[in-house]
Amino acid sequence: MKPGIVTWNPILKLLLSSGVAPLPLMEVFWGLGQARAVMTATQLGLFEAMAEGPASAEDIAASVECDTHATTVLLNALVGFDYLHRKSGLYRLSSKTRSWLLHDSKTSLVAMMGFLDDLFQGVEPMAEVIRSGDVSNFHHQPRSSEGWRDYVQGLGHLAGKLGGPVANRVPVDRPPERLLDVGGGHGMFSVAFCRKHPTVQAEILDLPGVIEHGQAMVEDAGFSDRVTYRPGDLRHEEWGEGYDVVFLFNVMHNLAPEECALAAEKAFRALRPGGTFVVLDSQHAGGDGNLSAVAGFNELFFFLISGSQAWPEPQVRKWLQDAGFASLKRGTIVPLPGLLMLTAQRPA
Ligand SMILES: C[S@@+](CC[C@H](N)C(=O)[O-])C[C@H]1O[C@@H](n2cnc3c(N)ncnc32)[C@H](O)[C@@H]1O
Repeated sequence: MKPGIVTWNPILKLLLSSGVAPLPLMEVFWGLGQARAVMTATQLGLFEAMAEGPASAEDIAASVECDTHATTVLLNALVGFDYLHRKSGLYRLSSKTRSWLLHDSKTSLVAMMGFLDDLFQGVEPMAEVIRSGDVSNFHHQPRSSEGWRDYVQGLGHLAGKLGGPVANRVPVDRPPERLLDVGGGHGMFSVAFCRKHPTVQAEILDLPGVIEHGQAMVEDAGFSDRVTYRPGDLRHEEWGEGYDVVFLFNVMHNLAPEECALAAEKAFRALRPGGTFVVLDSQHAGGDGNLSAVAGFNELFFFLISGSQAWPEPQVRKWLQDAGFASLKRGTIVPLPGLLMLTAQRPA
């Protein structure tokens, strides 16, 4: 899976494969252009202005208080990228935009767009960062309450789709009663696990800035009596003991290698014998050959934002095995390709 230039026109297809077309220019120009156009439209509220139905550029510009000509050219760019359709001078949302880029959609990525915009601006100029190798983990930088909210909601809306399939793939040897979701943030994975197992009480260990926003999402989902929060830094806290299941989802890519090894040891101590440890993170096959776009880019991305990286699967397995885990198994999460799910057992 890679982002790239796609065409259904057979002549253009031939041109693209012939090596004559300036592919790096097309990928960078359109890739960057598309990202900026979509993020800007989201930030300005352009998509919301069409939520009720098709609208003219004049009406859209007026409702978001922007210049009419400038708004029209942005709308036209979004038509080109299939985020909007245009007919008889009226603009309407494409189905992709309606599902993912409206505030009130269950799968809204609006908060995520704002958060990503913020993150990418924070690592500019990138050339300087690469020259110096000097980065600090954004989780431990000062952040406004709105910044934490966008982070938590952005990930939470994405997790809403994944929670059910993930919960279905967690092996348990008896009806589980206690789940510890480390770095569980928005709480949606805990909620999905509680839905699947009516016997479970879940506890989320996460940084203090995250908690109020996670609690709000859990309350919206109607699970605040079964999903509770414990503020703390997973690197310095002991995690507790006697849990049936421990989740560590999308956290390792923010940790240094020795912190990942320690996290695996803490998970082992937190589980009862026979309990299940589940790690979810970016897929990365490892080795020293070619890399997928997910693996290669996520090495860079997580380095830029936290000084860590997406870890190769053999390395993650080794941390788990060194901690004492057995029966390591790999699951595939269908709704979001590029995620690795590893389950492991604390031997009974
Ligand atoms: C990428 S998010 C993943 C959220 C959720 N588990 C998921 O998979 O969607 C990483 C989570 O780990 C939390 N986190 C990162 N570093 C942490 C630390 N040192 N202690 C506690 N929580 C931490 C973040 O606040 C955030 O909620």
